Amino acid sequence: MNEVTISPSAEETALACGAFLNGIFRKTDRDPLAIAISGGTTPKLLFEILASRFAHSFPWQRIHIFWVDERCVPPTDPESNFGMTKAALLDKISIPRTNIHRIVGENSPENEKERYSEELRSFFSTISGIPSFDLMLLGMGEDGHTASIFPHQLHLLHSEDICSVAEHPLTFQKRITLTGTIINNSKEIIFLVTGKAKAMRVKEILQDPGNNKNLPAAHITSKNGRVHWFIDKEAAQSLNKA
Ligand code: 6PG
Repeated sequence: MNEVTISPSAEETALACGAFLNGIFRKTDRDPLAIAISGGTTPKLLFEILASRFAHSFPWQRIHIFWVDERCVPPTDPESNFGMTKAALLDKISIPRTNIHRIVGENSPENEKERYSEELRSFFSTISGIPSFDLMLLGMGEDGHTASIFPHQLHLLHSEDICSVAEHPLTFQKRITLTGTIINNSKEIIFLVTGKAKAMRVKEILQDPGNNKNLPAAHITSKNGRVHWFIDKEAAQSLNKA
């Protein structure tokens, strides 16, 4: 079931998402809390708000940060999701370095897929089971992709692996991505989507279930069946009003 929060602006959407995250983290004393975050451009605003407004309220000492996906580039590359997150958030909060589990984008893709998979299995103490994140923060591209699961690689939604090498359909850039198998095994899943360029896809995913199976983001659901959408008015502009 999709739970949708619509805010007037991208800033207010990020703030609403931050407040929701704060609520989740503060109502549990689970330690560690394992979260996986996405990259791209949208979450930068959220990360900056977490660093400014929630730096002292989030239980960072027990939050472990993993990445949903990463471009196969070094962290100094402008394309790096880790590099963006480091500048927007990690350098501004007090979080143990051992709580940061970046995907090593500068490794060879196949080697990094194996290494990151091992790190995930080791952290979650599971060899054959599917790790279950406490929280999965996702974005969505204009083509309906999420993580680095693009429409031309829908098989990654149900892969036997928890992590895979993916490829951007236009740039052919190699990516390391969590697969739908581990994403859909999360306890809570959040989509953070803003901007009018995403409006048609948001409508297709939220209101056109019979015609969206070619969109990876349409195949995402959590263990508890809930997905939280934090969107701004622009991304919501094509939705039929309830
Ligand atoms: C990435 C992301 C990806 C992102 C969407 C939306 O590495 O690019 O993980 O899934 O969430 O592409 O990107 P924007 O926020 O830049 O629109």
